[in-house]
Amino acid sequence: MNYNKKSVLDAAVSGKKVLLRCDFNVPQNKETGEITSDKRIKAALPTIKYLLDNGAAVIACSHLGKPKGEWKPKLSLAPVAEHLSKLLDRPVIFANDIIGEDAKAKAAALKPGEIMLLQNLRYDIREEKNDPEFAKELASLADIYVSDAFGTVHRAHASTAGVAAYLPAYAGLLVLKELSVMGKALEEPARPFVAVLGGAKVSDKIGVINNLLSKADTIIIGGGMAYTFIKAMGYEIGKSLLEEDKLDYARSMIEKAKEKNVKLLLPVDTAVGSEFAPDCERKVVKVSEIPADWMGMDIGPETIKLFSDAVKSAATVVWNGPMGVFEFDAFAQGTEAMAKALAESGAVTIVGGGDSAAAVEKLGYADKMTHISTGGGASLEFLEGLELPGVACLMNK
Ligand code: 3PG
Repeated sequence: MNYNKKSVLDAAVSGKKVLLRCDFNVPQNKETGEITSDKRIKAALPTIKYLLDNGAAVIACSHLGKPKGEWKPKLSLAPVAEHLSKLLDRPVIFANDIIGEDAKAKAAALKPGEIMLLQNLRYDIREEKNDPEFAKELASLADIYVSDAFGTVHRAHASTAGVAAYLPAYAGLLVLKELSVMGKALEEPARPFVAVLGGAKVSDKIGVINNLLSKADTIIIGGGMAYTFIKAMGYEIGKSLLEEDKLDYARSMIEKAKEKNVKLLLPVDTAVGSEFAPDCERKVVKVSEIPADWMGMDIGPETIKLFSDAVKSAATVVWNGPMGVFEFDAFAQGTEAMAKALAESGAVTIVGGGDSAAAVEKLGYADKMTHISTGGGASLEFLEGLELPGVACLMNK
């Protein structure tokens, strides 16, 4: 995949109307609709400011949630426009439709240095279908398309991919950063390159493991998915998470790692719980001694040392997925220790979006990381080496 894309920095934006795809798919309080994290809005600010300061008129657009073509009031982007306006300290004009009369009139009247936001793209079912007519109408609002919605580049939708058939398409500063930091880690990493993979399921990470087996020097496997590997090594895992149909895959990965001379680090001890509950009984056992009625819910102290040492001696670290059930305080130690090890490592550290990013932020280590991706699914597909439609559609350098 070619990551070397033209960006806003290569575009003549002055006096132009720019359709800017952002990922304003922000978490909200289900009752009040209040935005509970504005990280994604803040992540779009550098591109927005760059465009406005350089004389462009910005027509921002995004999806929010999964309304599936229905006009669900709770998923309106109006609160995002309001929040964005506060962050920018200038008015954000809100269009209460997407390619309807309101949007068209407001876009036509928009002047250089002004910004507007369209209503939730997914209120129109044609967005997710990548409908060419819808994409064309969207494109007709502007002169240039800029994609800064890294969290959504794995979707081939009208606003993330289709629209690029009708407008010159550039990467925004956020997409540029995500591509350059993660692209470099995959293509020419400073070595040793250590990948730390966790999360509940092997099935979610198969593509990532396959791809990293030919790139990383060490692959660390923790989290719920480690128990399928532990079982594949011939140990009993009690009530721990098991994906029976992935046992052969786990065995073949262990073999492949040996063939390719990649160090595959698996837990040697584990914190087990008597049941899946925050206040359950907890003890630490060797992975060869998991009792039949207990379940593995975190890596143990010896494993923490093993994994942390590998991370601390790395030059590049990519981390995706927690080491245990970190939502429960009693089983958060492994995830916390990995966040700390990354923060103290001196390596180029890249944290994939989703849970691991949330853990790093919650623990206050965000400033210590080289890069925290704003993409969950997108960063995973990036690590899998898959072609991302929202990147492929942008102009090459
Ligand atoms: C995300 O939150 O991962 C992105 O905004 C993509 O959202 P989606 O999974 O609804 O396509």
